[in-house]
Amino acid sequence: MAKPVTTFSCAECGATSSKWSGRCEACGAWNSISEDVPLSAGPSGKTLGAARGKRVALSDLSAKEAPPPRTSSGLDELDRVLGGGLVPASAILVGGDPGIGKSTLLLQAAAAFAGKGLKTFYISGEEASAQVRMRAARLGLQNAPVQLGADTSLRDILTTLDEERPDLVIIDSIQTMWSDIVDSAPGSVSQVRAAAHELTTFAKRRGAAVVLVGHVTKEGQIAGPRVVEHMVDTVLYFEGERGHQFRILRAVKNRFGPADEIGVFEMTGAGLAEVSNPSALFMGERGRPVPGSAVFAGIEGTRPVLVEFQALVAPSPHSQARRATVGWDGSRLATILAVLEARCGIPFAGLDVYLNVAGGMKVSEPAADLAVAAALLSAREDSALPADCVVFGEISLSGALRPVGQTENRLKEAAKLGFSSAIAPEGGKPGGNEGLRLMRMADLTSFVGEVFGA
Ligand code: TYD
Ligand code: MG
Repeated sequence: MAKPVTTFSCAECGATSSKWSGRCEACGAWNSISEDVPLSAGPSGKTLGAARGKRVALSDLSAKEAPPPRTSSGLDELDRVLGGGLVPASAILVGGDPGIGKSTLLLQAAAAFAGKGLKTFYISGEEASAQVRMRAARLGLQNAPVQLGADTSLRDILTTLDEERPDLVIIDSIQTMWSDIVDSAPGSVSQVRAAAHELTTFAKRRGAAVVLVGHVTKEGQIAGPRVVEHMVDTVLYFEGERGHQFRILRAVKNRFGPADEIGVFEMTGAGLAEVSNPSALFMGERGRPVPGSAVFAGIEGTRPVLVEFQALVAPSPHSQARRATVGWDGSRLATILAVLEARCGIPFAGLDVYLNVAGGMKVSEPAADLAVAAALLSAREDSALPADCVVFGEISLSGALRPVGQTENRLKEAAKLGFSSAIAPEGGKPGGNEGLRLMRMADLTSFVGEVFGA
């Protein structure tokens, strides 16, 4: 028999390698690599067996066999992120930092779906049932028809679920689950993978929706949610800044709906409240115009959202100037600074640069480039942009402004929130007349000239 091959995997990103190293080559995490437990050999070592897999011609699938319709929770923000509701026989991963509010969100979701008639199980491997009940009481959900379980043994859980035939199962968290077919500690890559595999198989076999909660881990002792991302149908991340009361549920992968969709919630003493108009919320307190602030008309998923970028530029006391960002990619900031310097002759050397997105929001759309540049220039020149103006456009390395999609939706949202002018790239689809004065610019140099008179 062939010698079993030892493999190693990274607890952060799940990359596998044939040898151990202190740092994962795929994601750069330190100390996250551990040895995988070898799989047992198949029954006889042969590839072909007696049983056959099933096949069916695509054209033979009748509409009757199409999946049953989605169930809506009644929480619009949650339903939108799920792509319009919960799909039966699906597996959903909800990742997020410890303490961000995953258990609260999912208990509320469990109660909402149970209220719509789904047979719902909430299984906590972290808290005792009494603790979950106390949380439910705090959320005013103590009478919700949800079955609670406090267990970590996957075999026991699956045995119960198989008998009970639930419609929705929430597993809080996947890192506490323990499968006796794998010989390693709960939370290890092998255990988390095995548990996720068994639970997703259960979902498909029994037609239940299974939600797996996964803590994002800072160090490699426990496998992070990324290890199971590829096994599930939908990956949602629950994010937010600790100091802020706003939380964003973001779809990063969804087999049943658009990715990049967000749901916005506000943390309150009685749980998470939906925020149906997030634009108002992310713009900070806007009164008189302040230098360093620019409002970006963005698109998150299918919805336009206005967000405020805030920049601070100050002479640096250090030999190497600082660049710090919150809610925006640091290397993208460096690129925009370089373009401003090389194409417009505006240097930032010797200046500390801080860039924030207000309200704890994270922005990754390239269309925000121009808003970032506007905030940086406004801070550097100590000159405020007009308070009634929104900005959007992608900046290319040549300094040209590239048109972006959904101009009309961006302008509509801005008009709805009382903005009266917009700066956008030339080209692309013409925006309709949304009651806004639209200034179209071809490149960053003309933007600097028009807005800052430089
Ligand atoms: P919790 O849901 O336990 O976070 P996670 O499961 O992600 O670790 O929430 C953390 C704490 O925050 C908990 O003490 C309850 C509190 N909290 C509120 O008071 N209001 C809220 O709206 C939320 C979401 C949390
Ligand atoms: Mg929790």
